[in-house]
Amino acid sequence: MPVPPLERLSDVLPEEIRGIVRRDTPIPTIAERAKAKKRDVPTLVRGDIGQIVGVDDELEVLYGPPLGLEALRAVVAETYNLAFDLGGGALESAPQGLTASNVAVCTGAAEALSILFRCFASGKTVALPRAHWENYRNGVEMAGGRVVFVDFFDDHGRLDVAAIARGIEAEDVAVLVVNFPCNPTGAVLDEEEFRELARLAERSGVIVLADEVYARIRFDGCAPQTLLKFAPGHAVSISSASKEYLHPGARIGYVVCAHEELTNQVLRKLIRANTASPNVLGQRRVLELMQPDLEDLRAGREPQLLTRIRDEVAARCELLLEVLERHGFTPVGRAGHRPMGTIFLTAALPDWWNGDDISFSKAAIEAGCVSSVPGSAFGLDGSIRLSFGAMTRDDIRQLDRNLSEFRASLA
Ligand SMILES: Cc1ncc(COP(=O)(O)O)c(C=O)c1O
Repeated sequence: MPVPPLERLSDVLPEEIRGIVRRDTPIPTIAERAKAKKRDVPTLVRGDIGQIVGVDDELEVLYGPPLGLEALRAVVAETYNLAFDLGGGALESAPQGLTASNVAVCTGAAEALSILFRCFASGKTVALPRAHWENYRNGVEMAGGRVVFVDFFDDHGRLDVAAIARGIEAEDVAVLVVNFPCNPTGAVLDEEEFRELARLAERSGVIVLADEVYARIRFDGCAPQTLLKFAPGHAVSISSASKEYLHPGARIGYVVCAHEELTNQVLRKLIRANTASPNVLGQRRVLELMQPDLEDLRAGREPQLLTRIRDEVAARCELLLEVLERHGFTPVGRAGHRPMGTIFLTAALPDWWNGDDISFSKAAIEAGCVSSVPGSAFGLDGSIRLSFGAMTRDDIRQLDRNLSEFRASLA
């Protein structure tokens, strides 16, 4: 078996990225040295830092480290170990489990993806799932990559590894984006299917960008999974506090990789070049939210906040499906499977609508019925994506009445 790509980053990264990683960064290096020295010699005068200090200590929010607060990195690492069962030798390159060095905090999963595309997609072909979060394409193209689409499921809803493999081979794909639970469809994979994708990555040599922002928002009772566990030499996991902790505005995401060269060295330079450091106030808030959940995990309990969020969105998903089915919509994404994760589902338009998804979306807003995103934005023409994350159960009952009125108005 050839050496996996994440174990030979210097072969895989483009020369300009390697140049940035090699180049000295005098400002943070001196800052670190000065901080350490000042602990021993308090009279050292700090003349290196680019921020205004000493006017009003209470108001100061200083830059943070490029890779994020050490405490948050450690909490994310331990949360991964416990939530995904990564300790106890599951990872060869991190036999005791992940540590802070395996985590880079970013400005949302969006920044994480953008930087990773620049690392791995420049001048290369990236396979996106046919049903995909529309922003992936922007990230790949911004990085100078080419996008192709692959179907993950066959007509019977079975994971079609052979079709994905054919797509990889035919299009000379270097990077495969995997996103389960899936935005926009809510489709999930079971553990064996994750293993199948991992074996495919090993056989084909691709890098897998595993967008796992919804990994723990699944409703089928199965344990959450990360591809890191099954293909640590190929998979980079991307996650975020936006969904799991209700904090999209904090802009806190993270890259997690079993090979710390990526997270601890490469991303240290690239995040600094991109944004200097992730949002410090957001990190402190997310740390406060994650810590109690981590204590629950350590004690072998379900994490309280996450469970409350997941149970509520699961109930909303069920109710929304009932309402939509009553009005003739059918969920799409994985034939024969109901949406079982995320905060979204996508449904094919009913027979009573004579038009496409764009015209439905427009007319339904105009009529004061519902706002939805046309499925064509996600590669699923003839359907709409609805966020039950954004709808309370009362909103969903209202939607039931609105759809009846909307439909009657068309007759
Ligand atoms: C699949 C997926 N990945 C990434 C993101 C971006 O998340 P963040 O808010 O952490 O940037 C989203 C947001 O909707 C998403 O649905």
